[in-house]
Amino acid sequence: MRTPNLQVAMVFPVVSEENILLDFFQAHLALSCILISVTAIAIAWFIRDSFKVEDFDQKHVFITGCDSGFGNLVARQLDQNGFHVIAACLTEKGESELKAAASPRLKTVLFNVTDSPSIESAVEFVRAEVGERGLWGLINNAGRSTPIGPTEWMQLEDFKKVLDVNLIGLIDVTLKFLPLLKKAQGRVVNVASILGRLALNGGGYCLSKYGVEAFSDSLRRDMQHFGVKVSIIEPGFFKTGVTRLDLIEADLQRLWNRLPEEVKHSYGPKFFDEYVKAQDFSMGLLCSSDISKVTSCMQHALTARHPRTRYSPGWDAKLIWIPLSYLPAFIADFTVAVLLPVPKDDRKSHANQVGVANT
Ligand SMILES: NC(=O)c1ccc[n+]([C@@H]2O[C@H](COP(=O)([O-])OP(=O)(O)OC[C@H]3O[C@@H](n4cnc5c(N)ncnc54)[C@H](OP(=O)(O)O)[C@@H]3O)[C@@H](O)[C@H]2O)c1
Repeated sequence: MRTPNLQVAMVFPVVSEENILLDFFQAHLALSCILISVTAIAIAWFIRDSFKVEDFDQKHVFITGCDSGFGNLVARQLDQNGFHVIAACLTEKGESELKAAASPRLKTVLFNVTDSPSIESAVEFVRAEVGERGLWGLINNAGRSTPIGPTEWMQLEDFKKVLDVNLIGLIDVTLKFLPLLKKAQGRVVNVASILGRLALNGGGYCLSKYGVEAFSDSLRRDMQHFGVKVSIIEPGFFKTGVTRLDLIEADLQRLWNRLPEEVKHSYGPKFFDEYVKAQDFSMGLLCSSDISKVTSCMQHALTARHPRTRYSPGWDAKLIWIPLSYLPAFIADFTVAVLLPVPKDDRKSHANQVGVANT
């Protein structure tokens, strides 16, 4: 005789969660294998990413551009973590402020990346500091942004000013420090930008950052044989000296004022104000004040046993600029066109003028 419970079970078979999962895996075997593999790879990657090197107090790090911004913060953070930091500042004021905010272990040098003799004396100073250990880390952070603006407003000198600091200076510093880095089998951390993946404005800045990307890629491949690892930081937009709107706007005004009347006329009387407003709007929208997102990537590149090749700190870098850099160029062109004003003599009005003249 059947028990009432068994009767119920025969009419309504027991459907447990395990059964549902088992049925799903059996029905979608290929999909399940892919999901399990992806999860396993992600977990393995996170574990590998979290391994750290040891003995920070036995390691020296040289950082350029420490007067302000990312360089200043990462110098203080690495100092707190026990590293021997040698911070290069452009000004005496920057140097004394940083010293006051750090431990006595942190050393500073006055240093202009465009001045080869000042790089050479910095290398000698560092050589004496590090001794036989060599240099563990070089963070190439110094940089400038202006002049930026429409390409037609630039002169050759404007490109050179930025390229000399952001690219040629960075290459000069790296080449001069390489023997000390090889001795320690150390790390090079080069600060590029998402503007090294997507040229959003005219002037030397994007060119310099594309150059930093290319230099770092070739350096990484050449140096892997010597145990020197190279990482690239590609920040989105952050509130620091290079994104200061008052400085950018004052420089844009300088570029505009020196334009020939004919060129100014082609842009129209409203263009300059609209361009400045567009800059204000997009910077206000995009610039993050949490610059520790960038410095924690720099720290990871120096302290992780397996540093990443590229870091893209900032929500805008991850969600907008890096994905956009992989899409067809017309999509990026459209995005930039939406953000910026249109000159008075644009293609359509020019075609209309030619049409009227021909009738
Ligand atoms: N902020 C962003 O949104 C952003 C995004 C992507 C990449 N970056 C890059 O991040 C790096 C750091 O910039 P930041 O944002 O921290 O701005 P920042 O506060 O202006 O820092 C740049 C530092 O470089 C120094 N410097 C300028 N010219 C130099 C030279 N010829 N020699 C040595 N040092 C020089 C500056 O000194 P002074 O202050 O005395 O001029 C300043 O301390 C730059 O390479 C920049 O291109 C910034």
